[in-house]
Amino acid sequence: MPDLKERKGEHLDLAKMPSAMAQVENSLDRVRLTHQALPEANVDEADTSTRFLNYRLAMPLMISGMTGGMARGDAINLALAEIASEHRIALCIGSQRASLMARQSQSALRARAKNVPLMGNLGGVQLAGEGGIALAQRAIDDLGADAMAIHLNPLQELAQPEGDRNWRGVLTALGELVKRSDVPIMVKEVGAGISAKTARQVMDQGVSIIDIAGLGGTNWTRIEQSRSDPLRQDVMMPFLDWGIPTVDALTSTRAEHKDAFIIASGGVRHGLDMARCVWLGADMVSAAGVFIKVLEDENQRLCPDRLDALLSVWKDQLKIAMFLTASKTLNALKTAEGVVL
Ligand SMILES: Cc1cc2nc3c(=O)[nH]c(=O)nc-3n(C[C@H](O)[C@H](O)[C@H](O)COP(=O)(O)O)c2cc1C
Repeated sequence: MPDLKERKGEHLDLAKMPSAMAQVENSLDRVRLTHQALPEANVDEADTSTRFLNYRLAMPLMISGMTGGMARGDAINLALAEIASEHRIALCIGSQRASLMARQSQSALRARAKNVPLMGNLGGVQLAGEGGIALAQRAIDDLGADAMAIHLNPLQELAQPEGDRNWRGVLTALGELVKRSDVPIMVKEVGAGISAKTARQVMDQGVSIIDIAGLGGTNWTRIEQSRSDPLRQDVMMPFLDWGIPTVDALTSTRAEHKDAFIIASGGVRHGLDMARCVWLGADMVSAAGVFIKVLEDENQRLCPDRLDALLSVWKDQLKIAMFLTASKTLNALKTAEGVVL
């Protein structure tokens, strides 16, 4: 069985392969924002800025949690922190479990992520385990985090040869963490989606941010298949595309929770997808797989210029979508004309 750090390295490699993607669509292509041939605006003046965790961001985007806790992961996070700072977008790091267990600090990230929100990350099962609340508090303190993400990934764990099977006590632990923590707590999935019911359960415990991380992007059941034994592969076969597609998770959660702070993710591919998510009701958007694919080349060399260029493209695309829907601000975009086909 590979140790935690080895597994994290395998995940990075596997997530970059085409086989890591869900075979089910996230349905964002069903969203048709209505073209306005009379925008009465200058495209350069489209205001993509927003506020998140007391920071002013240049666009409603967060690089979602991926890695940390081993040399390769730490180098990736440092590069991500610099790029996030340059583009004034938010950054969530991957699970801090490995680094905390090895008593390694990731505090260097705080200095690099200048003037942008930096979010810590731990698994729901770790939080519910013995000493879990203290572990989460150490994670927040080590990073100087502005908020803490707790990931709920029961499907991924079941698909993992070494995964956790006991999910008892996670909800109570979330409530306990909210009570003890000085920073907001976010709950996220990892690509199978948060339902309206799950959102209600965690919000009732005081969780204030939800990243729905729906089906249609990085697919952990598929990724874990290549690390599993044949029996486990057979067991998980019918669940390869289990989950709630991004659009469904976003619209159902928004419909039931009008005031929740919702981040949309799960296969977001470009700035037009960002616009579609905002129109569907997202306050922010996040993505992971698409970013690691351009940040690291096939030889695991970091190419920050490529991610830098991609983020500029995303911002331009968001502006174009706003211009063509005659939306001067993100708030205006939310009420623009459009249909879900
Ligand atoms: C290489 C990789 C590692 C990931 N590791 C974590 C993790 O440690 N913690 C976490 O909450 N999510 C993790 N995720 C899930 C992402 O944060 C995100 O929720 C998911 O990939 C869906 O977004 P995407 O379709 O844009 O990739 C990881 C994703 C990738 C691609």
